[in-house]
Amino acid sequence: MLITSNTQEFRAGNIAFVPTMGALHKGHASLINQARQLGEKVVVSIFVNPLQFENKSDLEKYPSTPEMDAEIAESAGADVLWLPTTSDIYPGEIKTVEPGPIGNIFEGESRPAHFQGVLTVVKRLFDLVQPHWAIFGEKDYQQLFLIQQMVRELQIPVSVVPGETIRDLDGLAISSRNVRLSEQDRNAALVISRALNSARGMQTLSAKQEALDEALFSEPLFRRDYACIIDEATFELASETTVSKRALVAGWVNGVRLIDNMPMKVSAQ
Ligand code: PAJ
Repeated sequence: MLITSNTQEFRAGNIAFVPTMGALHKGHASLINQARQLGEKVVVSIFVNPLQFENKSDLEKYPSTPEMDAEIAESAGADVLWLPTTSDIYPGEIKTVEPGPIGNIFEGESRPAHFQGVLTVVKRLFDLVQPHWAIFGEKDYQQLFLIQQMVRELQIPVSVVPGETIRDLDGLAISSRNVRLSEQDRNAALVISRALNSARGMQTLSAKQEALDEALFSEPLFRRDYACIIDEATFELASETTVSKRALVAGWVNGVRLIDNMPMKVSAQ
């Protein structure tokens, strides 16, 4: 695997691209595996994007595990680990990309400039790498939605491919923040996937919403930000007739913010 900060060393051929901020785990490895099935050349980037952090201490606290990242990227099938510097990504005046109204709801409500920062960096990463495919996790469903919307609106010639959320055996969606949970916190955090699964098992929208609410309120250590069922096509709140519904949950366990989501399809039997 080539490790470089210089795009000239790899920018040719059909690239399948996996952008990350490092601290790689099994969720990232799964996206890299998926990229391996698609592209001639798999490029993984690590760039901790200052624009998407609302406070400096979060940015400074962001975990950095460079040796482990290289090992995980290589064994998952990356050909190139690209480590751009801040001046590679933002050499001059920054041309920001606006997410529009969907950037201000759910995750965007508590983090005002977050999605503007995400779209601005992803656009820049695409300009520099010119990938044929780019893989983003469903774990960050609103991020995935907004990137797909940007690609459509700006007509960027890249195919955005969603990657399924990877969970630990107990059901908790894998995140670099999970290491900050004590055993007791982690047990409390399991209420999120339990609530999502229970909602998925219900037939009607109102029963799904009730199942979500009931499960989440039953865990005193979980402080909810939102738990909503949206229409996957529009990101508006779902109605009974919405075809593709998805439940989104965000909240706090002992100072650690967690997000998760799940499609609400009732499997045909
Ligand atoms: P980061 O949090 O490092 O995530 C990189 C990619 O991994 C994202 O597409 C994210 O959705 C995906 N991911 C995280 N946890 C996952 C899991 N458990 N299962 C599957 N995929 C998972 O998201 C970002 O970085 C940044 O916002 C970025 C897009 C790189 C722009 O800076």
